Amino acid sequence: MASKKPGKATANTLVDFGITGDLAHKMTLRALYRLERRGLLDCRIIGVAAESWTLDRLIEHAREGIAASGEKIDDEVFDRFAKRLTYISGDVKDDKLYEQLAKELGPKARTVFYLQMPPSLFGPIVEKLGQHDLLGGARVAVEKPFGHDLASARELNDRLRAVLAEEQLLRVDHFLGKSPVIELEYLRFANLALAELWDRKSVAAIQITMAENFGVEDRGRFYDPVGALRDVVQNHLLQVLALVAMEPPAGAGADDLRDKKGEVLRAVHPADPKRYVRGQYHGYLDVPGVAADSQTETFAALQLEIDNWRWSGVPIYLRAGKALAERVTEVRLHLKRTPSLAFLPKAGQAEANQIVLRIDPEPGLRMAITAKADQSADWSPLTLDASFARELGEPLEPYERLLHSALIGDAQLYAREDSVEESWRIVQPLIDAPPPVHVYERGSWGPVEAVEKLTRSHVKWHKPWMPDEV
Ligand code: BG6
Repeated sequence: MASKKPGKATANTLVDFGITGDLAHKMTLRALYRLERRGLLDCRIIGVAAESWTLDRLIEHAREGIAASGEKIDDEVFDRFAKRLTYISGDVKDDKLYEQLAKELGPKARTVFYLQMPPSLFGPIVEKLGQHDLLGGARVAVEKPFGHDLASARELNDRLRAVLAEEQLLRVDHFLGKSPVIELEYLRFANLALAELWDRKSVAAIQITMAENFGVEDRGRFYDPVGALRDVVQNHLLQVLALVAMEPPAGAGADDLRDKKGEVLRAVHPADPKRYVRGQYHGYLDVPGVAADSQTETFAALQLEIDNWRWSGVPIYLRAGKALAERVTEVRLHLKRTPSLAFLPKAGQAEANQIVLRIDPEPGLRMAITAKADQSADWSPLTLDASFARELGEPLEPYERLLHSALIGDAQLYAREDSVEESWRIVQPLIDAPPPVHVYERGSWGPVEAVEKLTRSHVKWHKPWMPDEV
C-alpha cells in the first residue's frame, strides 16, 4: 500500500482521468494549452478514458475543443502541448488499466491524478491507485459534486481519506480559482479603508448574487436530481461567503487560509427552511432529462446568520438562479445608515453606502456613496468604480490557476474537508424540508415577491451592478 506522505514537489506528470469528457473538451484542455502558452506547463500528460481512441484522435479533439471555445490557436504552442500527451484507454475498475498506467508512469513520476469523472468513481479509482502503489508522493484532484448531502460527503471523505492524506487531496471548486474571489483576501485586509468597515458595527447586511441568464439547456439529466442549492450554493457561494467573512489568516500557507475559512463556516447557523425561497423557471419541465412533475429548484434565495464576534446580527442573503435577467455574480455589502443630516434643507437620512465586488463578468469594485449635487436641495447617489482587468491586467482563468496550483503543490485554492462538510451541515435543513417552488418567468429576477419577504426593508435586493452601467 502506498505511503500517505503528501507530495509537495512540483509534479512532472498529470494523469487526466476523463480526458475525453465534456469538461475537458470545454475547459480543462484549453486551460492546459493556455498554461503551455504562458510557459507554465512543465509536465507530461497521460489521458485516461474508456473510449478506444488513438492519440491522434485525442489531439484532434483537443484542438477542436480549444478552438470552439474562442481561443486563437498558435500552432507552435499547440504542437508543444500535443507532444506532452499520451493516451490510455480502459475501464477504471479493471486492474489492467492500472498495470498499464504504472508502466507508463515508471519510477520517477511525481504525479497529479486529476479526476474529471462522476463522483461515484472517485472511491474506486483512488482505491485502485492505492492498490497498485501509485499514490506515494502523489496528489489527487477531484471535481465536484463532492457528495449530495452531509452524510454522503462524509462517506466520500472517509473513503478517500482511507488511502490519501488530506494534504494529497485537492477538492476542486472552480470559483476558488476566479481572480476576484482570490482578491477578496487582499482587498479586505490590505486596505484599512475596507478592513475598518468590514464588521457588524458598519455592515447592515451582506448579499451575494449569482445570476445566470441561461437555463439548464442540455444538462437536464445531471441537474434535475441536484438543483440550485446543491449545484452552486453549497459549494461556490458558501466558499465565497467564507472568504468574505473570515478573519485574517496568520500566515501564507494553504492551511492558514483554510483554517480561517473553516472557522467562520463553523459559526454559521444551520439554515432555516422558513428563510429559504425556491423557484423554478417556466419551461424547465420541458427540458430533456427533467421529470415531468419535477419540484427541483432552479432558483434559491436564503438567509443565513453567522454567530461570531464580527458578524452577529448581520443578515447574510444568498441568491442564485438560472434563466434570470442577466449573467452576473457579485458580493454586496450594505453599510449602515448615517444619522439624519440636519444641515440638508430636507433633513433626513442619506442613502446607505454600499461596497460591491463583481466577480463575473468583468471583475471590479464599486463604492456607492452620496454627495450633495450643487443645484439640489438633497443628496445624490454617486459611484466610484474600478475594473480589475483594466487596472491590474488580464488574470489567469480559473482552470489555468487551479491546474497550475495542483501541479506545483499549492492547496490554497482547494476546498478542505472541514469546509465542505460544514457547508453541507449549513444547507442540510433546507434539503430535509424544502419549501414549495414558485414558478418564475425566464428573463426575470426570479420569484421576486417571495424573495423580498426574506430581506429587511433598507437592504432590499439590488439589481446587480452590470459592466455597461455607469
Ligand atoms: C457550475 C454549475 O459549477 O458552475 C453550473 O454546475 C454553473 O450550473 C457554473 O452554470 C457557473 O460557473 P461560471 O464560472 O460560469 O460562473
